[in-house]
Amino acid sequence: MKSIKNICCIGAGYVGGPTMSVIAFKCPEIKVTVVDINEKRIAAWNDEDVSKLPVYEPGLDEVVKQARGKNLFFSTEVDKAIDEADMIFISVNTPTKTYGIGKGMAADLKYIELCARQIASVAKTDKIIVEKSTLPVRTAEALKTILNNTGNGVKFEILSNPEFLAEGTAIDDLLNADRILIGGDSTPSGEIAKQALVDVYAHWLPKERILTTNVWSSELSKLTANAFLAQRVSSINALSELCEVTGADVNEVSRAIGTDSRIGPKFLKASVGFGGSCFQKDILNLVYIAKTYGLNEVADYWEQVIIMNDHQKLRFAQNIVKSLFNTVSGKKITMLGWAFKKDTNDTRESAAIYVADYLLNEMAELTVYDPKVSEEQVLADLDYLNSRSENENRKLIKVVNDPYEACKDAHAIAVLTEWDEFKTYDWSKIHDNMLKPAFLFDGRAILDMDKLEEIGFQVYTIGIGAE
Ligand code: UDX
Ligand code: ADP
Repeated sequence: MKSIKNICCIGAGYVGGPTMSVIAFKCPEIKVTVVDINEKRIAAWNDEDVSKLPVYEPGLDEVVKQARGKNLFFSTEVDKAIDEADMIFISVNTPTKTYGIGKGMAADLKYIELCARQIASVAKTDKIIVEKSTLPVRTAEALKTILNNTGNGVKFEILSNPEFLAEGTAIDDLLNADRILIGGDSTPSGEIAKQALVDVYAHWLPKERILTTNVWSSELSKLTANAFLAQRVSSINALSELCEVTGADVNEVSRAIGTDSRIGPKFLKASVGFGGSCFQKDILNLVYIAKTYGLNEVADYWEQVIIMNDHQKLRFAQNIVKSLFNTVSGKKITMLGWAFKKDTNDTRESAAIYVADYLLNEMAELTVYDPKVSEEQVLADLDYLNSRSENENRKLIKVVNDPYEACKDAHAIAVLTEWDEFKTYDWSKIHDNMLKPAFLFDGRAILDMDKLEEIGFQVYTIGIGAE
C-alpha cells in the first residue's frame, strides 16, 4: 500500500485553503504545500496575523496557527511543489463559462486544463491527482488524456474527491464530515490510489463515512447534492411568495413540514435567494450536461430552480421600490449584509449584488454595511455585474464600517445577509435616526417583526403575509 508523505494542493481559495489546513492539522506526518499563482493571496495565507487570512472562516485561524510552518506551507512555487508531491489536489476555480459554446451554463475548465498541463510537464515520478474543484461529469477523462499524452512517461492515477464543506462552517464540516466521497478506477492501481486517499481521511474520520465509488458517480454526486439542496431553498422560496399573498407565515410552514422525518428541517429557510459559488454554477452545469445528451425535460426541471431563485431576488428588489411609493431615486437605502450568507467574507453570486444592481438602476443611493466584506470587494462585485457603467455605479454606492452610521438618514433598510449581530442592534436608536416612514425589508426573516413594528418601523419580512 502506498502511504502518502507529501501533498500539494493547487489553488489556495475557499476550498483548497481550509481543506488542506485541516488535512495538515490532522496528519502531522504528511507535508502539505498549498500553492497559488496569486502572490497576494499566498502572502495573506502566510501573514503572521491570522486575522488577515484571505478566507474568513470560524475556527480556521486556530487550525492554521497550529500547523503552519510545521507541516503546512503556502507558496507560489507551483512547479517545486508538484515535483515533490505524491498526491496533488486540484482546487482551482471552475466558474461558469462567459464565452463560446456553453456560455452562461457550462463550467469553464481552462484553469483545470492549465493545471493538468503544468503537472504533466513537471512530474518526474508517479502521482495521484485528486479533483477537488467541482467539475462536470467526465472531467477526469479529459484530465487523464492530457496527463497521459503530454507527460514524461510517469503514471497518473486520477481520483475525484468532491468537496461538501459549506462556507461559514467549513472547519466543522471538514472535521465532522457526514461523508467523504472518493471516486476512482477499479483497476488494481486505481484501488491503491483510492486506498491512499482513504488513509488520509481515516486519520480523523470513521471508515464507514468514507465512501468509494467510480469516478463518474463521484463527480455526478457533487452536482446532485448541490442541486437537491438548492432545490429545497427554491421550493421554500416559491412558497414564501404564496404565504405573503395568503397571510400564512413561511417559517411556520417550514417548521410544520420539517418535522416530517422524511423531509427534515434543514435548508428550508426562506430567503432573498441563494448565492455562493456552487449552487447556481452546479445546476447550470447539470442543465448543460442534460441538454448535451438531449434530455430536455431533465434540463428544464433543474433549470426551474435557478429561474425561481432569480425571481426571488428580483421580487425582493421590486417590492422595495413599490413600497417606497414607486420611486427610490435619490433616496438613501441601507443594505445590511453583502456576503452570500453569514460567517463568510465570500460574496460570489450573493443575492445582495443583484438587489443592489436593481436599486442602482432605479437611481437609489445605497449604503452598504457588512461585518466582513470590504469596500473594494463590493465595488468589484458591481463591476463584474457590469449592467451600468462602472463610474455611475460607484457614485451611488457607499460602503461604511459602522452599522449605525450606515442607517442614519435612510429611507429604508434591507437585510440581505443573516449575520447574528444584526439581531443585537439598538433598533430604537436606528429608527430615531431614520427618515419617516422608516421602512425595513428583512430578506432573511431574522429580526423580530412585532418588536420592530412596535418601535414604529414599516416592516416587510420575506414569506410573512398580512393576516
Ligand atoms: C454549498 C453546499 O452546502 C456545500 O455542501 C458545497 O460543498 C458547496 O455549496 P455553500 O455555498 O458554502 O455550500 O453554502 P450553503 O450553506 O449551502 O448556502 C448556499 C446559499 O443558500 C446561501 O446563500 C444561503 O443563504 C442559502 N440558503 C441556505 C437559504 O437561503 N436557505 C436555507 O435554508 C439554506
Ligand atoms: P474555490 O472556492 O473553488 O476555492 P477560489 O476562486 O477561491 O475557488 O480559489 C481558486 C484559486 O485557484 C485562486 O486563488 C486562483 O488564483 C488559483 N488558481 C487558478 N489557476 C491556477 C493555477 N494554474 N495554478 C495555481 N493556482 C491557480
